[in-house]
Amino acid sequence: MSLKSANLQRARAAKNDEFYTQYDDVRKECDLYRSHFFNKIIYCNCDNADSAFVKYFTELKAAGQIRDVWFSGGRGGDDFRGCASIAKLQQADIVVTNPPFSLFREFIDLLIQYDKKFLIIGNMNAIAYKQTFHLIRTGRVHTGYTYPKAFMQPTGELKKFGNICWFTNIAVTRKNKMCIPHNQYSGHESCYPKYDNADAINVNKVKEIPTDYTGVMGVPITFLLNHDSDKFEILGMDKDFTTNHSGVKLNNKPLYRRIFIRNRHTVAANDDRLLKIAA
Ligand SMILES: C[S@@+](CC[C@H](N)C(=O)[O-])C[C@H]1O[C@@H](n2cnc3c(N)ncnc32)[C@H](O)[C@@H]1O
Repeated sequence: MSLKSANLQRARAAKNDEFYTQYDDVRKECDLYRSHFFNKIIYCNCDNADSAFVKYFTELKAAGQIRDVWFSGGRGGDDFRGCASIAKLQQADIVVTNPPFSLFREFIDLLIQYDKKFLIIGNMNAIAYKQTFHLIRTGRVHTGYTYPKAFMQPTGELKKFGNICWFTNIAVTRKNKMCIPHNQYSGHESCYPKYDNADAINVNKVKEIPTDYTGVMGVPITFLLNHDSDKFEILGMDKDFTTNHSGVKLNNKPLYRRIFIRNRHTVAANDDRLLKIAA
């Protein structure tokens, strides 16, 4: 890559990092973790004094709800990877922030490396990053409750997004919105065709996941937003299962990225049925 295009790429990434979270979005999500925050040191390591996160936690501190709030980073502040920031990270209890989009992988890796509790904003596409996907699949990280829809730009204008969520390793209690019970594979096989390059059926929408299918299903990555690990087993990303180790295809047409899952209950019920037949 030429120096000019590398500089351009850096400038573009830096521009995409300057989106500020609105106070109401912070409050709506963070209020749901108040018991977890109690008496803790909260560290906002990509924030300066103007941040909505800092404002929210300063209020909680004044109300005696948290031990302290620390911040550093933001434009011109400490690098979250630097010694000063890492020294604070080690002493803090929970990291709560919206990190730069361009450094999300590095950011989450650091939190895992230092074994920190966290509640952070990220792009839903981060679900597909190898490390994030592994953490979600193994139940160590999950998405939060709400979806911030707009962020403030340095110009003072709001920019809307439709693909932003929270990621956390703090327990969340989820209302199960998955699967409408009348979605049946049996009798509707043509709605769920098998891929050209994988032994799995295609499900186009999370709400269309059939309740009676015992085999492997390919579902959109948004499945993970309301994932119930008691009900479904996540097997992996589509390219881990396709014969050519790339994305799934239907009638020779590539589809958007899929996650491969299996319904734990139907698999167990089918095993019981087979055992009875065999007996
Ligand atoms: C998406 S913005 C969010 C800012 C703030 N956390 C908020 O929610 O309003 C990410 C911020 O991280 C800052 N940033 C970029 N690289 C950073 C780094 N290496 N260490 C700390 N902060 C960084 C950016 O300047 C930017 O202000």
